[in-house]
Amino acid sequence: MADLPASFRAYVVDKPADGAFSRGLRDVETTELPPGEVTVRVEWSSVNFKDGLAAREDGRVARSYPLIPGIDLAGEVVSSVDDAFPVGAKVIANGYEIGTARHGGYGELARIHADWAVPLPDGLTTRDAMAIGTAGFTAAMSVDALERAGVEPGSGPVLVTGAAGGVGSTAIAILAGRGHEVWAATGKPEEHDRLRDLGAAGFLTRDEVTAPGRPLDSARWAGAVDTVGSATLPYVLRTLRIGGAVASSGNASGADLATTVFPFILRGVSLLGMDSANLAIGPRRVLWSRLADDLLPRGIDDGITEVDLDTLEPALDAIVAGQARGRWVVRVGG
Ligand SMILES: NC(=O)c1ccc[n+]([C@@H]2O[C@H](COP(=O)([O-])OP(=O)(O)OC[C@H]3O[C@@H](n4cnc5c(N)ncnc54)[C@H](OP(=O)(O)O)[C@@H]3O)[C@@H](O)[C@H]2O)c1
Repeated sequence: MADLPASFRAYVVDKPADGAFSRGLRDVETTELPPGEVTVRVEWSSVNFKDGLAAREDGRVARSYPLIPGIDLAGEVVSSVDDAFPVGAKVIANGYEIGTARHGGYGELARIHADWAVPLPDGLTTRDAMAIGTAGFTAAMSVDALERAGVEPGSGPVLVTGAAGGVGSTAIAILAGRGHEVWAATGKPEEHDRLRDLGAAGFLTRDEVTAPGRPLDSARWAGAVDTVGSATLPYVLRTLRIGGAVASSGNASGADLATTVFPFILRGVSLLGMDSANLAIGPRRVLWSRLADDLLPRGIDDGITEVDLDTLEPALDAIVAGQARGRWVVRVGG
């Protein structure tokens, strides 16, 4: 084991049983790191919707206190008892309990289980990996699921909802890069130029994808990536073509779902659930490799805002307020 510093800087949220909720930067004793085989000097992390919730008292994401949030991290191994991840190796970790039930990426050091670690793929820097982050990873998972369900390039237009957000904008870039005709549903018309540059061929307003409709409406979409839920997912279901599929990952506008069974029994559509946090490590490593290769989201760097541990908090609040425009990366020690 390498010598580790006695303490490190981290952004911490806390709610003692007998005290008030608090959040902010502080020094954390290295002995407070959770168990695990691999200790990482975190270079970069990112800001996801879930991180914003973890940093709020009413967010219902933090499952233990005190907690260093940050569901994503990438950096260099500084101590390891697993030969697959020696000191000096560059790794990514996202999902599982990271940043929710145990300390995550918003600290200069993190400790993870070896079977949660992903080798940094050739062609990506740790910053690139965090520009992708869980949002981009979920976008890749969604595209992979749609294509496995038969939504191939050329099969028809694919709708992406919550298009200006992290999952949505990365999904547009990946889908367009693979030759799909991509349409973007966004409540932010000022984002059209950026989304067009990523590959969006056309746009829908937020009103168009939340208005009430009939149990089945004109069949328009071969597939969809839905990050919004609530009134939007029923719209998607009732406008999918015969045999179409939607990858559902998000609830940015709410968790309720009021639909009929008609899209399923009269058009054979598929509702594909995306759970990036619990994806097994084998397919997780494969998807990360593909994110450096055939699922590389070209152009997303234009929508990246860089913050550090001192300037992280406004980004955490902004993402929960629905003000995301692309992705935030967090320079931790990079
Ligand atoms: N299942 C998984 O594994 C997984 C992984 C990552 C994220 N997620 C979830 O996926 C969702 C999106 O995550 P993200 O990181 O992309 O978040 P984000 O960057 O905040 O993007 C969410 C987007 O949703 C739209 N939106 C926000 N509030 C809305 C509202 N009230 N009504 C309609 N649209 C609204 C906005 O897009 P426009 O401005 O373009 O309309 C916003 O940019 C979140 O619910 C997140 O928790 C799930």
